[in-house]
Amino acid sequence: MLRIENVQTIDGEITTLTFESKEEQTINATGLTVFPALIDPHVHFRVPGGEHKEDWETGARAAIAGGVTTVFDMPNNTPPCTTLERVTEKKKLIEEQLERVGMPLRQYLYLGADETTVDEIEKVREQVIGIKVFLGASTGNLLIEKQETFERICELAARFGIVVAVHAEDEALMKKNKEAYSNVTDVSFHPKIRARNCALAALDRALAAAKKYGNRLYVLHASTMEEVAMVRSAKKEGVNVYMETTPHHLFLNESIYPALGTRAQMNPPLRTAADNEALWVGIADGTIDTIGTDHAPHTLAEKDLPYGTAPSGVPGIENYLALLLDAARKGVITYDKIVDLTRSNIERIFEIPSNNDSVLVDPALRKKIANEDQLTKCGWSPYDGMTLTGWPVYTILGNKVYKLS
Ligand code: DOR
Ligand code: ZN
Repeated sequence: MLRIENVQTIDGEITTLTFESKEEQTINATGLTVFPALIDPHVHFRVPGGEHKEDWETGARAAIAGGVTTVFDMPNNTPPCTTLERVTEKKKLIEEQLERVGMPLRQYLYLGADETTVDEIEKVREQVIGIKVFLGASTGNLLIEKQETFERICELAARFGIVVAVHAEDEALMKKNKEAYSNVTDVSFHPKIRARNCALAALDRALAAAKKYGNRLYVLHASTMEEVAMVRSAKKEGVNVYMETTPHHLFLNESIYPALGTRAQMNPPLRTAADNEALWVGIADGTIDTIGTDHAPHTLAEKDLPYGTAPSGVPGIENYLALLLDAARKGVITYDKIVDLTRSNIERIFEIPSNNDSVLVDPALRKKIANEDQLTKCGWSPYDGMTLTGWPVYTILGNKVYKLS
């Protein structure tokens, strides 16, 4: 039996928790608060094909260090995860790697939609957490440009009860901007090329399709105030739509470009302080349902290439609970809301079973984020140098406790 004594619940009660275990172990958790372990519904763990950036051994270590025990992995691999066969192969690789590291991280996979494999949707419907649709190209070569194919995907998803998760940036509009800004070498042009109107145009198409076909629509990584407003009114109209934002779109904005350069380049891009604010309002009023880190590791050698060549994406899984706990301490968010965003809403939207995985946090622990301490294989964080108060100290996954350093 694993006993956690004197732990505080998020409602402020002091209690003892027990977990089934063959080993006898007692932890005195005085001063610690227990949260349900987090689900990160948006990670890129890079298997297969990008193992020099991340694999499931390093990914699992990073997840558990961040208080995360369940992840939903994205399909933009090499080759992309677009068929039942590839989903099955990928699952096997993941299970082997998790076995090797002895960390049974809970994982669900997305199917990647492409123009030629729409028929796979029916075959994989029991095997995947949803269908990922890139309405604008990002890392990898997945892309749905034809409206007709997108609508067919939504129709099939509605029929089989599968979530359609959209990367909402409109490819045609972005292409025009890329031509107009073809010579730029400064990352601060990134939000002008992948401009907010590109996000809005794609979201508009996605909402229209969800209205037409009735599929569950999950809007990935919302970055702008307008997207929040659009989803707020769509929800009022009764559209079956849910919205995710990321830690970097909440805690960072364009003003970080001079300090971080292409390390702060991701898709969709960082926006303005007013957008940060609107995302917090969207969280408070329930328009935004979830936080996904969009953990997208790339090596520093890759990230520090010139703008235009550097890949888009930042790691995030290790630090987002600490960012949220620090925000809670400052009165920006409540503990209950953190649980909604990182766990309960995700279980409800994606209809996955619950479990007793937990994370014990020390709300008073102050720690500085440093690149050299990161467990992700890419070995850096966009929050390097930031000091936060409130950190996970133990993660319990499948009744086994992991002490975090
Ligand atoms: O910044 C991003 N990085 N956005 C994406 O859509 C993909 C991701 C990646 O896989 O690197
Ligand atoms: Zn992503």
